Amino acid sequence: MGTGIAQSVAAHGMPVMLSDIDLPTAEAGKGKIEKAVTKLVGRGKIEADAAEALLAKVTPIAGYDPMGEADLIIEAATEKEPIKQAIFEQAGKVLAPNAIMASNTSSIPITRMANSSPDPERFIGLHFFNPVPVMGLIEVIPGLATAQDTTDRVTAFAEGLGKQVVLSQDEPGFVVNRILLPMINEAVFVLGQSTAGIEDIDKGCRLGLNHPMGPLQLADFVGLDTCLDIIKVLYKTTRDTKYRPAPLLVKYVEAGWLGRKIGRGFYDYSGEAPVPTR
Ligand code: CAA
Repeated sequence: MGTGIAQSVAAHGMPVMLSDIDLPTAEAGKGKIEKAVTKLVGRGKIEADAAEALLAKVTPIAGYDPMGEADLIIEAATEKEPIKQAIFEQAGKVLAPNAIMASNTSSIPITRMANSSPDPERFIGLHFFNPVPVMGLIEVIPGLATAQDTTDRVTAFAEGLGKQVVLSQDEPGFVVNRILLPMINEAVFVLGQSTAGIEDIDKGCRLGLNHPMGPLQLADFVGLDTCLDIIKVLYKTTRDTKYRPAPLLVKYVEAGWLGRKIGRGFYDYSGEAPVPTR
C-alpha cells in the first residue's frame, strides 16, 4: 500500500520519500508507481509531463536518517505489531520536533502502538484503502493520547489528497474493517459449508448488493494473510466468537495461497482471467 500512498501524495504536489526494507526494494516501489502512471498516461487520464512531475517528487531512501526532514511519517508495513513497533522506535529517533508519526494499520490499536513512538501526542492512525489512488476514503483514528492538533493536521493532509475523512475511535477494526472483515470471513464460512461455490458467492454480492467485487475476490485483492490478521485482531481484542476465523481461511493461508500478490488465493491468477480454485 505504501506505493499507492506515495503516488497519491506526489500526485497532489507534495514531495515524498519512499522507504522499504532496503534501497533496491524502495526503488522497486518507485518502479511500481512508474508503471501505474505510465498506464494512466496511455489511457489519457493524465498528461505525460504531469506523470514526470509526479515521479520527480518520489525519492526512494535507505535507512531512517532522511526521515528527520519529514513533516509526516506514514508507516505502512505488514500487519505484524513487532515489525511496526521496531519501525516506530527507529523512525522515532529522527522524528522532527513538530512532525507527526502515523500508522496505516488496518486494525491494530493505535493507543498501544503509540507507546513505541517518542511522543504519543503526535501519533495517530491514518488508514488508507486499496487501491489508494482510486479510493476516496481515509479513516483517521486518534489514540487516547493523540493531541487534537495532530488530528486536525492529518485531517487537513488527508483532505489535501482529495479524500474524504471518517473519524473513528480507537476500537478494533475501526469502522470499515469492523464491518468488512466479518463479511469476508462469513463468505469463507459459506464456501467452507458448500452453500455455494466461489463464483456464485462473488456473483451474489456483486449483483445482489452492487459491490464492485465479490467478498472472495476482494479477500484475494486485500491478501488472505492480511484478512486473517485483521479478523484475528477482532477476535482476540473482543473475545467475541462472532469474529472467529473461518477454518478454510486459515487453511488457505497455511497453504501459502495468499491471494493476488502470489498469483493464487480463492482464484488462480496465472492465466489471462482469474479461475476459481474450488
Ligand atoms: N492510480 C490512479 N488511478 C488508477 C490506478 C492507480 N494506481 N489504478 C486504477 N486507477 C483508475 C483507473 O484509471 C480507472 O479510472 P476511470 O474509472 O476514470 O477509467 C479506475 O481506477 C478503475 O480502474 P480499472 O478500470 O483498471 O478497474 P475496475 O473498474 O475493474 O476497478 C477497482 C478496479 C477500483 C479495484 C474496483 O474493482 C473496486 O473498487 N473494488 C473494490 C475495492 C475495495 O473495496 N477496496 C477496499 C479494500 S479494503 C482496504 O483496502 C482496507 C484494508 O485495511 C483491508
